[in-house]
Amino acid sequence: MAYKFLDIVSTPAVRAAQEANGARKMWETFEQDRAFDRFTANEAAFIAARDSFFLATVSQSGWPYVQHRGGPQGFLKLLDDQTLAFADFRGNRQYISLGNAADDDRVSLILMDYPQRARLKILARMQARDLAVDPDLAARLALPGYKAKIERAFVLRLETFDWNCAQHITPRYTAPEIETAVAPLRSQLAALEAENRALRAQLAPNSHENRT
Ligand SMILES: Cc1cc2nc3c(=O)[nH]c(=O)nc-3n(C[C@H](O)[C@H](O)[C@H](O)COP(=O)(O)O)c2cc1C
Repeated sequence: MAYKFLDIVSTPAVRAAQEANGARKMWETFEQDRAFDRFTANEAAFIAARDSFFLATVSQSGWPYVQHRGGPQGFLKLLDDQTLAFADFRGNRQYISLGNAADDDRVSLILMDYPQRARLKILARMQARDLAVDPDLAARLALPGYKAKIERAFVLRLETFDWNCAQHITPRYTAPEIETAVAPLRSQLAALEAENRALRAQLAPNSHENRT
């Protein structure tokens, strides 16, 4: 059965490591179909909800290079079921991912959903695009109101993806998520404080009388 992600990353060294750890047979006889070479509605929803991801590129020296990419929720767009794209914001002007991808277009992404404890790994081929000559793409990647200078687009052609299990993911929440969760508590607290003030006001004359 197809397991494209594992087929791609199972180099001889990886296979030897699996063999040495008694796991080779398990993958050789793997029965599930995990071609995972087209995004489904499930991945589309997951990607649309992300406000960041980690992007690994391959440098000419052989060193892997990982960078964090962040933006407004949904800034990583699905152009079709095999194509992703995102706006490359002006940063520290080192252009490491840009340079790496120009030499070797293979990239690896990991997308995290901390509250749901889910993660999606993606292998793709990434190209930089000049948005000045591609107004359609510029319109699709535009982020009105977001404070960033878009220098170019990165377009990523999917090779394959894979889902990871929830293990060892600590749930974490963004400030807006926390705000939503505590909003009912805040109103309940305000109501209790108001009630408390009213009760104190009712008690005040009695306690004054009690003292005299
Ligand atoms: C003023 C400024 C300084 C930054 N300094 C750093 C830094 O020291 N290290 C870093 O990883 N990213 C830094 N960033 C963010 C990166 O520039 C940004 O994530 C960019 O996309 C990285 O691209 P690259 O890692 O492919 O070169 C900085 C951004 C700005 C605007």
